[in-house]
Amino acid sequence: MVCFRWFVPDAQGVVVVEYNVLMGSPRKTGNTVELVKPFMEELALHHVQGELIWLYDKKIQPCTACRTCQKDWSIFGCPCRDDVGEIFDKLLACNLIVLATPIYSWYCTPPMKALLDRLVYGMNKYYGDARGPALWAGKKTALVVTCGYRPEKGADLFEEGIRRYCKHSQLQYLGMLAERDLGYQSIFMDAEKERHSRSFALEILGSLKKSMSPT
Ligand SMILES: Cc1cc2nc3c(=O)[nH]c(=O)nc-3n(C[C@H](O)[C@H](O)[C@H](O)COP(=O)(O)O)c2cc1C
Repeated sequence: MVCFRWFVPDAQGVVVVEYNVLMGSPRKTGNTVELVKPFMEELALHHVQGELIWLYDKKIQPCTACRTCQKDWSIFGCPCRDDVGEIFDKLLACNLIVLATPIYSWYCTPPMKALLDRLVYGMNKYYGDARGPALWAGKKTALVVTCGYRPEKGADLFEEGIRRYCKHSQLQYLGMLAERDLGYQSIFMDAEKERHSRSFALEILGSLKKSMSPT
């Protein structure tokens, strides 16, 4: 059984979650989560703590562009009473955001899209009368994606969208792991995909370590 939380307290007994995986797949034993597992296991082996959030289990209303969130630059400020406030706090507290999703119609699945919309306004205080800060500026973002087409035809548009989203939001885009699903009759996960997932985790680890080094 794979545990999706690796909480190892530091010397002071404080638990630090260094990354959150926002899981956009509706399938609890689907391809995307199977691809994410070795990624999380590899980071855990290097003592990097992560939490996986199942977005289909969360209440995430769509943004209605009311712009209430632009009035106070120090908080999320969205009037919707759903689960996005809690996700917002988790993302502000971590160093790395992993967007894990199957591709649906050349983009991410609906709860992830709704969340991205809520965050692009709630985190970026650029939509009011004056230009404010991006509250999550400098955080790192990576993608773990599965799709039916070859990744260069299935995941390319989503990746480009997220590159622009990151630039606009002052996030640091680290890269994408994308793997192809050959259909319901075939077994998705194999040794090669597991290797890719683990080496992607090591790449990400390298970037995390670089930004934590004192120089
Ligand atoms: C409604 C729906 C739409 C999809 N749209 C695309 C698509 O636009 N491009 C693509 O390459 N694959 C598409 N796929 C295939 C999935 O991305 C692929 O099977 C994925 O691995 C499923 O991941 P999961 O098992 O985590 O749900 C679609 C699948 C579904 C169910």
